[in-house]
Amino acid sequence: MSISQISKTIGSSLTLALNEKAAILRKKGEPVIHLGGGEPKSKAPMGAVTAASDHLNTREIRYTPAGGIPQLKKAIIRYTEENYNRLVTPKNVIVSGGAKQAIMIALQAILNPREEVIFPAPYWVSYPEMVKLCHAVPVPVLAEDGSFYPRVQDIESRVNSFTKAVIINSPNNPTGAVYSAEFISDIVQFCEKRNIYLIMDDIYHRLIFGDKKPVNCYEYATDFSENSKLILVNGVSKQYAMTGFRIGWAIGSKTVIQAMTNIQAHQTSGTSVISQKAAVGALNGSQSCIEDLRVTLENNRNVMLDHLNSFQGVKVCKPDGAFYFFADFSAYEKDSLKISQLLIEKVQVLTVPGIVFGMDGYLRLSYCGSVKDITEGITRMKWALDPHAPSDLYIGDRKLVRDWT
Ligand SMILES: Cc1ncc(COP(=O)(O)O)c(C=O)c1O
Repeated sequence: MSISQISKTIGSSLTLALNEKAAILRKKGEPVIHLGGGEPKSKAPMGAVTAASDHLNTREIRYTPAGGIPQLKKAIIRYTEENYNRLVTPKNVIVSGGAKQAIMIALQAILNPREEVIFPAPYWVSYPEMVKLCHAVPVPVLAEDGSFYPRVQDIESRVNSFTKAVIINSPNNPTGAVYSAEFISDIVQFCEKRNIYLIMDDIYHRLIFGDKKPVNCYEYATDFSENSKLILVNGVSKQYAMTGFRIGWAIGSKTVIQAMTNIQAHQTSGTSVISQKAAVGALNGSQSCIEDLRVTLENNRNVMLDHLNSFQGVKVCKPDGAFYFFADFSAYEKDSLKISQLLIEKVQVLTVPGIVFGMDGYLRLSYCGSVKDITEGITRMKWALDPHAPSDLYIGDRKLVRDWT
């Protein structure tokens, strides 16, 4: 079969494939525990649902302006003012099919073939593939000290004449790391000085725990002119638990946003009007759902941390945001695909192998589900991996006895 060179280089999305796998196993009646998910389980805000259904009831379901309806842009402008203390105009805003599409078209709008995009590793699975889709080159960078906290020097060491952009994601998927204000300040200033685009993927910015606070990139920017190369990406998927609506957005210079809008106009004609109305409902409605979700996630994080700490051989770094642990299982097995596969086969627990985020030997474990799933999931994992765990395990009323070490 003749398919394009570019499509041959693009891998499938393992994280989305895992969701499908979990659904299929559940349908077969398997007692699956999905610790691989990337979406909160809370219900979408009532304001979002009402706004969407009100619009559906008009039965006037039409195309919208490619860059988003004015009402949603207005709500995003207010959101940006409230959360980032930054006033932008509708021409600085584009609404897209999730933060994912916003990042994709931002890259398409700025990259030429062979240019390079740097991002810290471990990284969100889609960054390398998105960059490749633009015929450009992904450059993942590990922190020199092996931590989940990159330094600007680590990034600077990879900058060359092909470098066009840096992507920063904090709180981070997959590590849950929240980068310091010092790092964000340094990277904003570094990119300004070197005239490099900086894409801030802030999709988890309100899901932060303890005394950590979201860091606002605009606080450290000095160039607010049309030359600014700072692009901020956000959306309703995670904080409002609205993944299925597929609404995200980007804020940037008018030139970049216009280029992105032109691309989107030809790709999709813009996002569904129903979803845009729902996002207006979420942004303009009661915001208590975000705090409720944040508190639930912080509690889940603490529960998972306790369980992982009692898991001999597993090394963890406490996450301060998002809803993932990126835990080191290399003491059991260095090949993360193998561990992940073993956990599905032996105990029906779904995890995401670290290799897809650029670090083998690790597993990404989500705590966006229930406390019951977290507790039972880690207990099953211990049984499967840790020779010191009790050799009997009950899954429902099925008793398993470990017969391997
Ligand atoms: C770091 C990161 N950026 C962007 C996205 C995309 O979010 P959306 O559902 O808005 O496309 C995700 C989703 O998992 C993510 O983890």
